[in-house]
Amino acid sequence: MRPLVVDRGAPGGATTHVAAGMLAPVSEAAFGERALLELNLAAAGRWRAWADEVAAAAGVDAGLRECGTLLVARDRDQAEALERELAFRHECGLRAERLLPSQARDREPALSPAVRLGLDVPGDHAVDARRLAAALATAAQRLGGRVRADTEVAELLVDGDCVRGVRLAAGEVVETDAVVVAAGPWSGMVAGLPPAAQVPVRPVKGQTLRLRDPAGAGLLERVVRSEEMYLVPLGNGRYVLGATVEERGFDTAVTAGAVHDLLREAAEIVPGVLELEVEEVLAGLRPGTPDNAPILGPGALGGLHWATGHYRHGVLLAPVTGATVVAGILGEPPPPEAAPFAPARFASVEVPA
Ligand code: GLY
Repeated sequence: MRPLVVDRGAPGGATTHVAAGMLAPVSEAAFGERALLELNLAAAGRWRAWADEVAAAAGVDAGLRECGTLLVARDRDQAEALERELAFRHECGLRAERLLPSQARDREPALSPAVRLGLDVPGDHAVDARRLAAALATAAQRLGGRVRADTEVAELLVDGDCVRGVRLAAGEVVETDAVVVAAGPWSGMVAGLPPAAQVPVRPVKGQTLRLRDPAGAGLLERVVRSEEMYLVPLGNGRYVLGATVEERGFDTAVTAGAVHDLLREAAEIVPGVLELEVEEVLAGLRPGTPDNAPILGPGALGGLHWATGHYRHGVLLAPVTGATVVAGILGEPPPPEAAPFAPARFASVEVPA
């Protein structure tokens, strides 16, 4: 295949630019989401080989850090909740180890003495999502694809029951047998599709900070998470601190309250955070769906494919998303874990005009 990627901004310049890049199937496992857990685990299992493939094709590192994750509780309520989380993970057969506060601090000495309980999740890692996006764009082009930045799609062109291409905002028509809509939280707004062929995607705001340690790397090795924040080391003395989860439409304002709450929670768990420099404060939009699970594979028209709705797991799901989309275009079945996430499950959902 010789794909053309059309992005109205910089490739990876919107949601991916803000993403913390956690590969966290176990940390983010939730009650009642068994199928999503299986998909997330399958994606995590593909990551090492996929990162190597991207790096080999791009000639640059893809940004994967196999660092593990610590979940921590800073008070009794959080500790009780963490015990329940541990029991749930063990019921699901997932790897997570209960740590006394002293054991947690042995692994991450920057943790506050106030931490009451820890869970070590050794298989949940992180990737520098910005570095990954740049590597993917380079890899795509070195393998014969094309990437057109700052190029907006005005509409999909539909002929009867089939998509036949896209019209760009400048008027140019690109004809093709297969169109993959991977427009994140904007996927529900692509013009040209009949209402019955659309999918329900909404923006879910997340505010984050990017912090830098002038002393370099070393404050944290692992991702550290509590009920109310996560702190992701990027490996170069930089950290992503996130994130709020807000239903506020396409609003991307950064608020003083969110910055305050994230910093306060982070500092209670890792006091050294207050020594870090603030490099960026930013808000991004996650693509949410009615079940907050992704929409992957062939759509309701011939040649229409979806790769959207990844909500909190877009970076994690990248390898399995690619495999699912390629299978759909070739007319092959998706990876088995992706089958429950076909767009057809929303066929009867009315998408607002
Ligand atoms: N997966 C992290 C977030 O959505 O904030």
